[in-house]
Amino acid sequence: MLPTTPESLLPLVLRAMQATPDARLRDLLSGLVTHLHDFVREHQVTEPEFERAVAFLVGIGQATGPTKNEVILASDLLGISTLVALQNNPAGEAGTESHAALLGPFWRAEAPECQLGDNIARAGTPGTPLEVRGTVHGAEGQALAGAVVDVWQASPVGLYENQDPSQPDMNLRGQFRTDAAGRYHFRSVRPAGYPVPTDGPCGELLRAQRRQPCRPAHLHFMVSSPGHKVLVTQVFADDSEHLQSDPVFGVTAALVGHFRLAEEDGRPLALLDHDFHLVRGEPVFPHPPIP
Ligand SMILES: [Fe+2]
Repeated sequence: MLPTTPESLLPLVLRAMQATPDARLRDLLSGLVTHLHDFVREHQVTEPEFERAVAFLVGIGQATGPTKNEVILASDLLGISTLVALQNNPAGEAGTESHAALLGPFWRAEAPECQLGDNIARAGTPGTPLEVRGTVHGAEGQALAGAVVDVWQASPVGLYENQDPSQPDMNLRGQFRTDAAGRYHFRSVRPAGYPVPTDGPCGELLRAQRRQPCRPAHLHFMVSSPGHKVLVTQVFADDSEHLQSDPVFGVTAALVGHFRLAEEDGRPLALLDHDFHLVRGEPVFPHPPIP
């Protein structure tokens, strides 16, 4: 059979894919193609619009490199990354809200292993000192000793170390192990919010949509312990601008951390207490978006 009308094409494409041996792959691609065909017909997509869409996809691939993953950024800006995170990390057994959040484009594997209390702001990174502490809980609420708390964050000027030649390699990144009581604590400096990269196709998209690019200030965490799912999450500063207009839709109520202001030796010190709750499952680590 050969297609004669726009509507007659979809059944032919679905039939061509029917012999896919991997049932899940067959299912996903059939669903995707069905939605895409419906979309093209419903919106009467024109040839120049199609060319524009292809150019965008080519552009996000070409803009991806050792320090930037524009493809993940595009998925973040469309809310897809947060959707996948929410869908795959339902609320905890105690009925609490999901504590998962998107990985983002800046995680690096093999951050330095640190001792509890170490400062991840290396080489005197300027900024308001920050003390972060909390407990990692397991599925039954028990404290988890030896859990790994992997943290990464932007500097007080809103740049990750690999975006900023003035910072040492692996600055503001570290992995900590909880003590016998499941507690962790470390020193850092308060992160600043930052604009997502706007020098590529995603920036063009944001400008076309009149969207502001700034994320609220946050710390990223990846918390893991044997027998538990790896928790990928972010903690947002409650006094941060743009909590309500995060361009990547990462903020949920459960992820807003309470930064308290204290004093140490006459200098301001920010304090953040934040506990993590893991759920049972196989620990599976994500692929680092950048090396
Ligand atoms: Fe971030």
